[in-house]
Amino acid sequence: MCGIIGYAGYRDVVSTILQGLTNLEYRGYDSAGIALQDNGEIKIYKTLGKLVNLKNELEKKKTEFEHPTMGIGHIRWATHGSPSLVNAHPHTCTCGKLVVVHNGIIENYKELREELINKGCKFRSQTDTETIAHLIAEEYSKTKDLEAAVRNSVKKLQGAYAICVMHKNAPDIIVGARKHAPMLIGIGEGENFIASDTPAIIEYTKKAVYLDDNQIAVVTKNNVKITDTNGNEIKKKIEILPWESMSLSKMGYKHFMLKEINEQPDVIRNNLSGKLFDIDAPVNLKEVKLDKAALKKLNKIEIIACGTSLHAAMVGKYIIEDFAGISVEVEASSEYIYRKTTTDASTLVVGVSQSGETADTITAIKQAKKKGAKILIITNRPDSNMARLADSLIPVNAGIEVSVAATKSYTAQLISFYLLAIHLAEVKESLDKSTLRNLKHELIQLPYKIEEILSDTTKIQECAKNFSSYKNFIYIARGVNLPTALEGALKLKEISYINATGYAAGELKHGPIAMLDETMPVLSVMIPGGITYEKVLSNSEEAKARNAKLIALTSSTDKALYNLFDAVLKIPKVSEILSPVITCVPLQLLAYYIAEFLGKDVDQPRNLAKSVTVE
Ligand code: M6R
Repeated sequence: MCGIIGYAGYRDVVSTILQGLTNLEYRGYDSAGIALQDNGEIKIYKTLGKLVNLKNELEKKKTEFEHPTMGIGHIRWATHGSPSLVNAHPHTCTCGKLVVVHNGIIENYKELREELINKGCKFRSQTDTETIAHLIAEEYSKTKDLEAAVRNSVKKLQGAYAICVMHKNAPDIIVGARKHAPMLIGIGEGENFIASDTPAIIEYTKKAVYLDDNQIAVVTKNNVKITDTNGNEIKKKIEILPWESMSLSKMGYKHFMLKEINEQPDVIRNNLSGKLFDIDAPVNLKEVKLDKAALKKLNKIEIIACGTSLHAAMVGKYIIEDFAGISVEVEASSEYIYRKTTTDASTLVVGVSQSGETADTITAIKQAKKKGAKILIITNRPDSNMARLADSLIPVNAGIEVSVAATKSYTAQLISFYLLAIHLAEVKESLDKSTLRNLKHELIQLPYKIEEILSDTTKIQECAKNFSSYKNFIYIARGVNLPTALEGALKLKEISYINATGYAAGELKHGPIAMLDETMPVLSVMIPGGITYEKVLSNSEEAKARNAKLIALTSSTDKALYNLFDAVLKIPKVSEILSPVITCVPLQLLAYYIAEFLGKDVDQPRNLAKSVTVE
């Protein structure tokens, strides 16, 4: 979603801010802008589209600025008003002396806008953000103190904001403030940063302070002061950021997505390490803070998530019910929020999120917390807002995921669910020793099986090429692989813009079958030896009878499959219950190669953002 960086220090301000924005680019955006404090003036540059346009614009106009000492930059993902130059950030007050960049949504902006227009403010854009600029400027005109003006103004804002503000007449300070939107302060020597996310500053410093809601930061090149909304100074702990700047490099791969798909074996090993090393010992999930007695009694779990994380949650439901016999409900966070749930103090609510910043999931978790539920968060960002709401936290340790399409974070979430389900089964004593040993043994083998898939992707590439001209796809599966079908279809939709729908294979005949003909390929996920193989096979035959082209994703070595299916994507032998960790990989690759073949912007698909911080 939108991204912010503010910088005060000795480096070249323009290139530091541009690099910070480049490192946030993966989040998805439609326009970009920068405001510079230069020689007693505020200078603003904005462009539509990719960041390279802003870079070119600044290069063209570099004679317009002399020696900027500070600046704020922004990439925008449109919420209020179309993607246009006038709606791009930074926004200014009427006289143009005050500039603001903003992430989030101001819910009461219409009322505020009307009041400000009545007071004579001249609005230029359709954004909620411009209201903030006029509001702070109005306060500033009374106090001539930017920090106080921001403090007084944010009290009037309803909704979510992370803002950075500069004023022509306060040439040494950038003021930041946040509520329900992430913001951190990067601490350097003779330089300081404000940013909406870690990658913006990781190249420059590993030391940071996370702002909490209703806190205000005043940043100069040599100092950082943080206060509450009453102006009381707050001493905050300096944290060491958990990322390496190297993770933002493609390391020779054409796209981040391909790099991240290839990282999955190591991500799984990393995730298992310290938790599962001896198949005769219980899994070590000390992250789950519920004591054994509470876990033994536990009989209701609710898992809430969105998108790909929701698909991981669906696998989680299947295996927790299977291994531990605990009833699990899974729901999209955006639906959970608007329902009278039966969540109570005896419920364990699990929030799953790659980014830990997804607004729908954060709201749902807060709602569950209010009802007294214990909260377990499974996330790739232990430094996120969601993680801060957790009673128990399982970090999935996938490393930073840059491509908008989630891949390695999905497999890492799956592994966390397998560990959790086994842990619950061990506490509840619901599985016998030999089943547990077999499960653990096979879990440890999974990275090797993925390596086998990654070592030769020729068949997947061939299939991608042969099927890339189809406009619609259906993915079918049953049981624990139904989420695989949904996730495979989501991946294809996201990055190639081809319409793909995942269905429970048994549901095909209850309606979707009407759509089948030679223009609608059907991809079937089938694991021999599992309880669903024969049924999915016969559902595939039903599709063939309607002239659909068929693709099989299977570990079967049955030669007869080649008579029925037009393409067979082979995976190594795997038990059905653990197979979702393996079956997702060829589907990620298939989506990747189709999108790549069609020349799509794989890492930054249109209209999508890496973390969706609006409801
Ligand atoms: O950060 P989260 O896991 O909470 O994000 C949830 C979805 O927005 C996300 O999974 C989205 O569907 C991705 N683009 C999937 O590739």
